[in-house]
Amino acid sequence: MDVWGKIRHFSILSESEFAPFSKLFRTHRYYTTQASQTEREREKYHQMRTTYKNVPLVAKFRLLRASTAYRGGGLGFENARPKPGRTVSTPKTAIECKKKSGFASEILNKTREKVQNTVNGREENGFQNRKALKPGTVTKMRKVYEDTLKPHYAETGVLPPYNDAKYQFARTPDEIEGMRKAGLLAAEVLDYAESLCKPGVTTEEIDEKVHLMIIDAGAYPSPLNYGEFPKSVCTSLNECICHGIPTPDETLLDGDIINVDVTVYLNGYHGDTSRTIRVGKVSEQVETLCRVTEDALEAAIKIVKPGVPLRRIGATIHEIADKHKFGVVDKFVGHGVGKEFHSGPTIRHHRNNDPGTIEAGMTFTIEPMLTIGGTRDIMWKDGWTSVTADGKWTAQCEHTLLVTDTGCEIMTLSPAKKALGDHLIRGAR
Ligand code: MF3
Ligand code: CO
Ligand code: CO
Repeated sequence: MDVWGKIRHFSILSESEFAPFSKLFRTHRYYTTQASQTEREREKYHQMRTTYKNVPLVAKFRLLRASTAYRGGGLGFENARPKPGRTVSTPKTAIECKKKSGFASEILNKTREKVQNTVNGREENGFQNRKALKPGTVTKMRKVYEDTLKPHYAETGVLPPYNDAKYQFARTPDEIEGMRKAGLLAAEVLDYAESLCKPGVTTEEIDEKVHLMIIDAGAYPSPLNYGEFPKSVCTSLNECICHGIPTPDETLLDGDIINVDVTVYLNGYHGDTSRTIRVGKVSEQVETLCRVTEDALEAAIKIVKPGVPLRRIGATIHEIADKHKFGVVDKFVGHGVGKEFHSGPTIRHHRNNDPGTIEAGMTFTIEPMLTIGGTRDIMWKDGWTSVTADGKWTAQCEHTLLVTDTGCEIMTLSPAKKALGDHLIRGAR
């Protein structure tokens, strides 16, 4: 008796679907011809297809193996390649396995998951043996109070056109005060979110609590229904670069990192801030990634003042990332922020040749994303979640700034971190 036992189950997969499992299972190559050669063969073939249409695959294979009549005809195994000149379909792979049931659906689900959510051939064990992320169920949009002042997209989900040339400024005392208040609330909410990020907590729970804090402070959670984003905050774990959607199916584990990106709309102004929170104890390499990302943001903030070219921001960040051989994501950018969630100037975090100069009164974000591996991303089917193509982890942090005459004021400075030390993002230096 062979190692596979007597009970066999067959499943048909395309080559690419099967590739990740090729070492685990015994396989046979299988072809379907487009047309049989003779009238008699064709007739037999159709007869067989009709007769055995509902016969389980395993039985069909037994039958076909026993039969020489169809070898190289309707179906054929590798040892019976179709004769030259015959049109055949792309070879498929028949897999046999000990398990009698559930195998086909199991393997198909696994491969579909892979193909949908990750790059070709990526292992199920993701970076550092932490399983690769996968989409979870998305729960209903949360409600806000009737009397909450909402941004224009709150009801429709429609984004306004993005105009890179249209900057935002806070110049009057009212505007400056509006930005400070929105920024402070965003920072306080982020401090609260950080306190929630412990092993065992789901990203859904973070969303729920953050949502409550925002609406009870009289504000609107800016992400909610922004371009139909379904939740009130972005939670981006591990290999997720940004815009992760909170879900009850995603639980934080010891060693994870999670970027929580909070934006609030308070009295007509958006305040936008994020940081990468270490869950429990993270690896040394991952800690370095987070720190360098914070250092890069800090260094970029320090060069901001009127007259400085906007492209200096990217140059500053990129240089620091280079020193540690981290990648700088170029697909997502910082942006003007204020009465609108996103506007010009586009703030790129990698080295660039963008025109434009920093001016007093401008309000914009800087939000670098650094990666351990490559910077190419894969966008999930939800249209929002961006994960690194190679599955390696990535960190981000973000502040909203107001350019002053001599430098800039950080609108989203964290009260909790300030209490811990003078560092802009992580507290003590
Ligand atoms: N807060 C994000 C940023 O930094 C934007 C999130 S858009 C959302 O620009 F729709 F995903 F919420
Ligand atoms: Co943000
Ligand atoms: Co932003």
